[in-house]
Amino acid sequence: MKKISSDTVRADFNDLLAVVHYTRAAHELGLWKSERALIERFFPDLNAPLLEAGCGAGRVTLGLWEMGYRHLTAFDFAEELVDQAQSLAAERLADGPNGITFLHADATALDQCHALRDLRFDGALFMFNGLMQIPGRERRRTALRELHRVCRHGAPLLFTTHDRDVSPTERVLWRLEAARWERNEQDPRLVEFGDRYFEEAGTGRTFMHLPDRAEILADLAATGWTHAFDALRAEIAKESRPVLAFSDECRFWVAHRG
Ligand SMILES: C[S@@+](CC[C@H](N)C(=O)[O-])C[C@H]1O[C@@H](n2cnc3c(N)ncnc32)[C@H](O)[C@@H]1O
Repeated sequence: MKKISSDTVRADFNDLLAVVHYTRAAHELGLWKSERALIERFFPDLNAPLLEAGCGAGRVTLGLWEMGYRHLTAFDFAEELVDQAQSLAAERLADGPNGITFLHADATALDQCHALRDLRFDGALFMFNGLMQIPGRERRRTALRELHRVCRHGAPLLFTTHDRDVSPTERVLWRLEAARWERNEQDPRLVEFGDRYFEEAGTGRTFMHLPDRAEILADLAATGWTHAFDALRAEIAKESRPVLAFSDECRFWVAHRG
């Protein structure tokens, strides 16, 4: 059976179910309270050029615009989602989406995106676990190195992960999964321990790597990012019911480009 690759993930995000799911979130949900609080805290300059990786259908991009950020470049490797983000911006921004550039690009190969070639950013965001949807730790590190390359010294990077050990139940489930890996009885499509590939009604198929805290700290250090902050979402803000229905608990991370 074939291992999950970036082609699998891209196809899953281009699938109609996922496109409808993320487009609806972009239209109806907008920024979570926790996202807004951290953006205000770590991205104080509304005129700073910001890069949003894995923008999907534009939920965060449009939220940033509504907060007053005016130099936004957002990209995703799923063409269908980028199209949706562009339509939403055209609909919401009366004078046309000046100030937001949407691009089709892969976070692990930003050098292949011509439009990004000469641009440098004073901040980057990779929200709602997008970084963890890159299969393979070395490829996730490549994405972190690419974001490092296109950001200026001191730029903040905000992203989220889903902790492997967030609850006692999950700790038990992951102990059982570890035993499966020891016996080589894991789902053969998975790339590494910590990976999940699951299907949910209304969302479609999702690949996600669930790290522990030590793994992310090591990945940041190895790719030139200095850890500045991390906390669970529930420690940052009390989210509304629709946000809780859309997304499980996650850990927010902020690092600065060294
Ligand atoms: C969970 S969705 C989040 C979308 C949007 N940021 C939001 O919060 O609604 C993760 C996004 O990351 C994108 N993504 C995953 N791997 C990527 C990669 N290597 N390069 C660019 N985008 C990627 C997916 O296509 C998807 O749109």
